[in-house]
Amino acid sequence: MEERLLGAMREVAEKKGKIVVLTGAGISAESGIPTFRGPEGFWTVGSREYRPEEMATYAMFSRNPDEVWQWYLYRIGICRAAEPNAGHLTVARMEALFGDRFLLITQNVDGLHLRAGNSLARTFQIHGSIEFVRCGVDCTKEVFPLSPAVRVKKKHEPLSDGDREALRCPKCGSRVRPHVLWFDECYNEEYYRFNSSLRIAAEADLLLTVGTSGATNLPMQVGHVVAQKGGLIVDVNPDVNPFASMAGQNGGFFCQGPSGTILPKLLDAMTN
Ligand code: OAD
Ligand code: ZN
Repeated sequence: MEERLLGAMREVAEKKGKIVVLTGAGISAESGIPTFRGPEGFWTVGSREYRPEEMATYAMFSRNPDEVWQWYLYRIGICRAAEPNAGHLTVARMEALFGDRFLLITQNVDGLHLRAGNSLARTFQIHGSIEFVRCGVDCTKEVFPLSPAVRVKKKHEPLSDGDREALRCPKCGSRVRPHVLWFDECYNEEYYRFNSSLRIAAEADLLLTVGTSGATNLPMQVGHVVAQKGGLIVDVNPDVNPFASMAGQNGGFFCQGPSGTILPKLLDAMTN
């Protein structure tokens, strides 16, 4: 790894700088969770194949809530069976070491960062979490844990009457929905920490972007804010992506490779 990069990481740690880690699906790839834009994302309904961009929508949920829940319960099964990998564990270790100088912004809804040891207080789950639900017709803003009575599903296994019963809003009895940001919806502060993410970005001395293709709006804005304020951007990804370019244009670094290998090396540079 480049000496200039290791030196820059060490400096952030020594000068007690503020550190923001921004993660996407790539950090969970080594745990066996398919990334969004990989081939595993497709879902067949009848004779048609749907992309996540079509399944993960309020429009689809309104038309076909059972199908959307089958898809989510299949994905929840995969996430629960997965284990945090070296990348997640390194990010958890950063929080343990840097405390309130550290913040994690994650697009992942798989819960692996929290299972690896990051705290909910210092983790903004800006696309929500699949372990939580909320009323499908918005009778309340309250967010509830997914009922343990709901069973995860094999691919295309139908919902049972018991599942449907357990997927009711405790307040009004309507169907609950997954507490995730869908493609036809907008970010907000209340559920997704939109403003807080931008506020924290403005104070960051280091933005470490990991395993994200930069396809969503808030993460790109976070990158631009950090760049504008002169923070250091370091991108970790096996492939070129918009954050790699952003880092390159602002005196930062692109560390090309899998996060499970690269992140421990970066943390080493910060602690030795
Ligand atoms: P994507 O699936 O778009 O991108 C995954 C990124 O991870 C790619 O840039 C890969 O190169 C990279 N990657 C793959 N293996 C990796 C590894 N071992 N280590 C590090 N990186 C690796 O996932 P996201 O960028 O997270 O939003 O997608 C962003 C959002 O778009 C998702 O949260 C979701 C989706 O639409 C919503 O559902 C609202
Ligand atoms: Zn309700």
